[in-house]
Amino acid sequence: MNDIIENTFDDVAEDYDINEYFLITAEKMLQDISYKDNLNILDLSCGTGHTTLLLAQKFRNSSITAIDISASMIEVASKKAKENKFDNITFKKEDVTKLDFEKNTFDIITCGFGLFFYPSMENCFKNFMEILKTDGTFIFSSFSKEDHLKEISVHCKEKKILLQTNTLITKVQKDI
Ligand SMILES: C[S@@+](CC[C@H](N)C(=O)[O-])C[C@H]1O[C@@H](n2cnc3c(N)ncnc32)[C@H](O)[C@@H]1O
Repeated sequence: MNDIIENTFDDVAEDYDINEYFLITAEKMLQDISYKDNLNILDLSCGTGHTTLLLAQKFRNSSITAIDISASMIEVASKKAKENKFDNITFKKEDVTKLDFEKNTFDIITCGFGLFFYPSMENCFKNFMEILKTDGTFIFSSFSKEDHLKEISVHCKEKKILLQTNTLITKVQKDI
């Protein structure tokens, strides 16, 4: 399944940015995050870098790791980062379902229109919560509310994780 996803996004990478909807949503995802210095930030399924580049601009003195399974999507993102002279982004071609970061690593994790591609959203979500620092924030976008909430809301209740959602964007605050 991941091969199909990877090949599909490899094929559409060059023309992906024609659809401005993804950039508009990325802007909305970040509008409520207040600026702090020296953060460790992870952008999951970064694609052509809509969220990544906005993060790099907003958090100039922070380190941003951007991951995607499609080499071609990363290539487009990386080219844009170079054009904008951002030196605070590290791109990695990786499968988000196989992440290997230490617990409590990231202050902010973002995921623009990616979560529903992962075979088990719940397992991935649990892993994201592990690698997110206490007090950290996870923000993701989705095409519909129902897509994602059922699988992760039970876990959030159990762990007392604060979850705020509207139709498109969900903010998760890990403050336990
Ligand atoms: C709809 S695009 C969103 C891209 C970007 N976040 C945005 O908002 O424009 C979904 C992205 O998820 C990536 N993706 C899907 N499954 C993945 C996986 N298992 N690991 C890493 N990236 C994945 C695809 O390659 C694609 O770039």
